[in-house]
Amino acid sequence: SHVMFQCSGSEANDAAIKVIWYYNNLRGKPQKKKLIGRIRGYHGNTVATASLSGQPHMQADFDLPYGDRFLHVSNPHYYRFHEAGETEREFSARMAAELEALIEREGADTIAAFFAEPVQGGGGAITPPEGYFDLIQPILKKHDILFVADEVICGFGRTGNLWGCETYGITPDILTCAKQLTAAYQPLSATLISRPIQEALVAGSKKHGSFGHGFTYGGHPVACAVGLETLAIYEERDMVGHVRAVSPAFLDGLAAFRDHPLVGDVRGVGLIAGVELMADKATRAPFAPSRKVGVLVQNKCHEAGLIVRAIGDRIAFTPPLIITKAEIQDMCRRFGEGLDAAWAELGPEARAAAE
Ligand SMILES: Cc1ncc(COP(=O)(O)O)c(C=O)c1O
Repeated sequence: SHVMFQCSGSEANDAAIKVIWYYNNLRGKPQKKKLIGRIRGYHGNTVATASLSGQPHMQADFDLPYGDRFLHVSNPHYYRFHEAGETEREFSARMAAELEALIEREGADTIAAFFAEPVQGGGGAITPPEGYFDLIQPILKKHDILFVADEVICGFGRTGNLWGCETYGITPDILTCAKQLTAAYQPLSATLISRPIQEALVAGSKKHGSFGHGFTYGGHPVACAVGLETLAIYEERDMVGHVRAVSPAFLDGLAAFRDHPLVGDVRGVGLIAGVELMADKATRAPFAPSRKVGVLVQNKCHEAGLIVRAIGDRIAFTPPLIITKAEIQDMCRRFGEGLDAAWAELGPEARAAAE
């Protein structure tokens, strides 16, 4: 029902955290403050959002997670973590059971919210397993725990719908977005809140004389003007329709690399996908991290004229939404060159293990 503007995705999620704590104080639940994130989830760089994220390198030696309000559940990365013979639905049920066990262990009266990206971006472009959000949402509802959808990557068309929440049937209490809100030409982010939360903010503002949150540059008029124009262009050009039209070429083009000896799995939706590099496909054994195979592939792709990002041994693809089918073909050709060059450089020992 209301939107609060800030300057970055981190600030949008940080504001969501503050608003959640404020809301629970105002509705007489001061004990209900813990937040659940997911291992490999990414929500930002501030003290609170890095604590909520599940990125070890952003926490180690930063003294994070800060305090005792941040909890984490497993990364729902089906390909890497499913047990032999476990279906996606069974895996999702195991993830949901883990969440419920955590809630029961900590006490639902101490837990305020669960944060999730519809598709995990910083974790390596990881799509949720089948049924995951369908199973998780009723558990959160039952325990009066808010669902915050972090749409900083997924928002505005990335998954083939305006929102990742539509793609995965999520009804969030709070939604955060940034990046594509201005096509990243200006720093602007937003925290969208539902009515009960907005009403609590109004009540709190009356109690305290004003709403005590805001940044000098939050909702900056230049950024907002660019945001409005960006949204107008998305509509004029039917950007969501375009994503849907080119998505099969993108997903099929990358899926063709499943047969490459370096590639264990390819998964994606809309215009976001992750390619998982594997030392041994049959046993799903990863390469030793010290070999930095992901970085090797990334560098070889750069040499082939393709900018990709290695996140560990996952190669993440989130091309501009305006990408054309011809550009997707070119992208895939260059990716193939990069993979082959990395494969050639890995040496006979690694190749023997992978074959
Ligand atoms: C899902 C998600 N949330 C939050 C952030 C943080 O946004 P920012 O870098 O604008 O602070 C990012 C950044 O990549 C992100 O991918």
